[in-house]
Amino acid sequence: MRPIVLKGEKVSLGVLLKEDMEKIWMWNNDREVVRTLADPSDVSTLEEWHRWYENLSLKKSSKRAFAILNEGNNLVGTVIVSRIDLRNGTAEIGYFLGREHWGKGYATEAVRLTLEYCFRYLNLRKVYAKTYENNTASIRVLEKNGFKLVGRLRKHAHTPDGYVDVLFYDLLREEWEK
Ligand SMILES: CC(C)(COP(=O)(O)OP(=O)(O)OC[C@H]1O[C@@H](n2cnc3c(N)ncnc32)[C@H](O)[C@@H]1OP(=O)(O)O)[C@@H](O)C(=O)NCCC(=O)NCCS
Repeated sequence: MRPIVLKGEKVSLGVLLKEDMEKIWMWNNDREVVRTLADPSDVSTLEEWHRWYENLSLKKSSKRAFAILNEGNNLVGTVIVSRIDLRNGTAEIGYFLGREHWGKGYATEAVRLTLEYCFRYLNLRKVYAKTYENNTASIRVLEKNGFKLVGRLRKHAHTPDGYVDVLFYDLLREEWEK
């Protein structure tokens, strides 16, 4: 049994379990999944993911990670709230899904639930995210959740498709409340 933190229609956010690390590790070694993440060349071991998991409880004041679960309560991805800054009331979010679970609206709803967590439970003032300019799906996930494009670092990151702009999006609490 896994505790559910927030429940939506298609997905829920659940507590991430140590045994989830095997899938997370598999997905993070899939070049299609990582090609739009911070370091697309990274190849990781399961041990590294176990250490990452252990570190989550040590970094609790600045980071939370959730399991994204589908209708059948199966793990389909993860969403991470990092750089939680309670003085400024800000945090960054990031997310990824196993390739087999793309295109079903899961990420859009997972981000909606994450925003509810950030604004209603963490009492944050602003949530931000960054994405590569060629990550159409991620840009749509952010736009559909009300995020606004607020900045761009030109030709900032190297991907297998060449250098891309890094886009910054944010959402203020009062905009989310509307
Ligand atoms: C980005 C990601 C999380 C999107 O997850 P998802 O569950 O497939 O997204 P959704 O199903 O909620 O779709 C969101 C929107 O993106 C669109 N979309 C989905 N896949 C797409 C693709 N490959 N190309 C273009 N648009 C796509 C959907 O059509 C939808 O837009 P619409 O409602 O206007 O039609 C997923 O593709 C992923 O894990 N990618 C690899 C990791 C990553 O890039 N993470 C984000 C880093 S900033």
